[in-house]
Amino acid sequence: MLAGKRILLIIGGGIAAFKALELIRRFRAEGAGVTPVLTRAGEEFVTPLSAAGLAGEKAYTALFDLTDEAEMGHIELSRSADLVVVAPATADLMAKMAHGHADDLASTLLLATDTPVLVAPAMNVRMWQHPATRRNLATLETDGVTTVGPGTGDMACGEHGPGRMSEPWEIVEAAGARLRHGPLSGRRIVVTSGPTHEPIDPVRYIANRSSGVQGTAIASALAGLGAEVVFVTGPAEVPPPPGVEVVRVETAREMLSAVQAALPADAAIFAAAVADWHVTGAGERKMKKEAGGTPRLDFAENPDILATVAGMAAGRPRLVVGFAAETHDVIENAAAKRARKGCDWMLANDVSLATGIMGGVENAITLITDGGVEDWPRMTKAQVGDRLARRIADALA
Ligand code: C5P
Repeated sequence: MLAGKRILLIIGGGIAAFKALELIRRFRAEGAGVTPVLTRAGEEFVTPLSAAGLAGEKAYTALFDLTDEAEMGHIELSRSADLVVVAPATADLMAKMAHGHADDLASTLLLATDTPVLVAPAMNVRMWQHPATRRNLATLETDGVTTVGPGTGDMACGEHGPGRMSEPWEIVEAAGARLRHGPLSGRRIVVTSGPTHEPIDPVRYIANRSSGVQGTAIASALAGLGAEVVFVTGPAEVPPPPGVEVVRVETAREMLSAVQAALPADAAIFAAAVADWHVTGAGERKMKKEAGGTPRLDFAENPDILATVAGMAAGRPRLVVGFAAETHDVIENAAAKRARKGCDWMLANDVSLATGIMGGVENAITLITDGGVEDWPRMTKAQVGDRLARRIADALA
């Protein structure tokens, strides 16, 4: 997957640094060459000797190493790679990157490089959630840096939550997605996924059932073919795929704004299960049972994101794809929905309980286009993602 690619791997100082060694091994197994660079703190967790041993190359550690300057200056070192990967990217290293500091070899390389940068953050939950880190992350994203993770789980510090560095295989996948020159490279594609949550009050909401598995698989497959994917996701059960730009939203109205902000794009795929209504007057105060009686909720219709984008007079993506999850008269309903919403393709699926599709790993798709109706065999949602991504690549070619 990464044959012939050169990776400059910057290993920051955190307990997750031990995973960087496995990461080197995996990069090499994919055919990439790896030049390790350890920060001073990184050296406290893994030794340059183990990094160099696994990489089969010299591991760089200090800024002013005259021999290295004679062999290869730090500017050249920073540009000799196809991709710079920072794993683990500590809060400190991210702050340095966001502010353009260059007070050691790693931060100097990051400032001097003109190649794409992928960071795998790893830090304590509170540090990850701190407004300073959020700001730094936003700055890095604006600067074109791609992130992978962090994941959620138990952490070495004993806390639980987001902050765990992504697993080495996820980082390798994200690196592949960032580098791949597939049939969709140069194409920008917006994908919506997951449910939306529409608040009733601060603790209650209404939502559609959606795991986000199908939308995630589509985004992953598109990125795998080289597309630049903006993944606009509601609160899904599964984490977003590596190698995409993630925009998290809660409500349908937020999802519409996020999609509009992500345009222009070559294609837009609407896999989200958007709530049709929101509760009007959802307040700041929790509704109390003690108030007596049952609550009365008033609803207002949500914007139809798919129909809005499909109907754009100017700047409409060339290909607009919707989903029709139906429980009966699947094809008739989906064809009518395609016409009503004005999208180019409609992927119809039968989500009646007996199919086990809702929340399951498989899907059975009927693709409705101008050209007619095409039944796909029942396959995994990952395979649906791959097949759809290839069709999209053909359509945009
Ligand atoms: O009307 P229905 O919800 O069945 O339409 C499904 C399709 O429309 C899906 O592609 C879904 O993502 C999209 N949709 C939307 N905004 C809405 C409702 C549905 O984008 N408010």
